[in-house]
Amino acid sequence: MTKIIAITNQKGGVGKTTTAITIAHGLSLRGRNVLLVDFDPQGQCATALGINPEPCVFNLLINHQAPALWVRESGRSNLCLIPSDRTTATAQAVINAEGRSFSAVLEAVKPLMRGYDFLIFDTAPSAGGLQERAIWAADLVLIPTATEFLSSDGLTQIMSTLTQLRETRNWKGKLLGVLPTFYDEQTKESKSSFGELQNKFEKSLLAPIHRATILRECAAEGITVFEKDSASRASKEYEKLVTILLKKI
Ligand SMILES: Nc1ncnc2c1ncn2[C@@H]1O[C@H](COP(=O)(O)OP(=O)(O)OP(=O)(O)O)[C@@H](O)[C@H]1O
Ligand SMILES: [Mg+2]
Repeated sequence: MTKIIAITNQKGGVGKTTTAITIAHGLSLRGRNVLLVDFDPQGQCATALGINPEPCVFNLLINHQAPALWVRESGRSNLCLIPSDRTTATAQAVINAEGRSFSAVLEAVKPLMRGYDFLIFDTAPSAGGLQERAIWAADLVLIPTATEFLSSDGLTQIMSTLTQLRETRNWKGKLLGVLPTFYDEQTKESKSSFGELQNKFEKSLLAPIHRATILRECAAEGITVFEKDSASRASKEYEKLVTILLKKI
């Protein structure tokens, strides 16, 4: 059974795209067939993997052509991508204006699911019709959150979106976990934010990903941390995350 995992948080810059591309690549390195789908008009999944952003998600959602036309090779075994670009904002506007069904995203990707073990969705740092429908399609939701001052505000928002989808739209998915990112035990702010997350989320809290310059360098070079330095701490932390995801699923 193909599982859809959405990486989401309405707060920007918390490590959603980094987590999406890294776990997508991590799962593919373990022999799973993975399709990464970018729902963010910033189109950063493509650039982070060294590929050109393209209006693929727009076409998948708006043009009723064969969905497979919009799948791109990533140049890595078992990993494909449906890239996004700024036209995805237009798709979002069309979906809102036409009041499309909450199952619109699931219906769009359904014909592609057969060939994959996992679909990983990267989402934009905003609330909106497209992002909600991407979450609605997901079996599991992973929420990266930066361990910094005020990060709990973004979490409150996304948690209330999940509750709303469950209660008013009959969403059947589950929270896979809250992932603390940019963790730095040398700073009081990071430590106290992590402590708050521990109190609030207990069992749903995953092991933190430390702040790491290598992750920034990878994004600039269009490679994943597993390609840049598989012995680095960031690489080991994301590898552990992949192991935990596979155990939880
Ligand atoms: N653990 C980390 N340590 C240091 N830098 C990181 C870490 N995770 C991500 N980054 C860097 O921080 C920036 C923001 O990360 P990323 O793009 O993954 O966040 P995002 O939540 O997807 O942002 P947006 O909301 O804009 O889509 C990027 O430059 C990325 O390389
Ligand atoms: Mg992003």
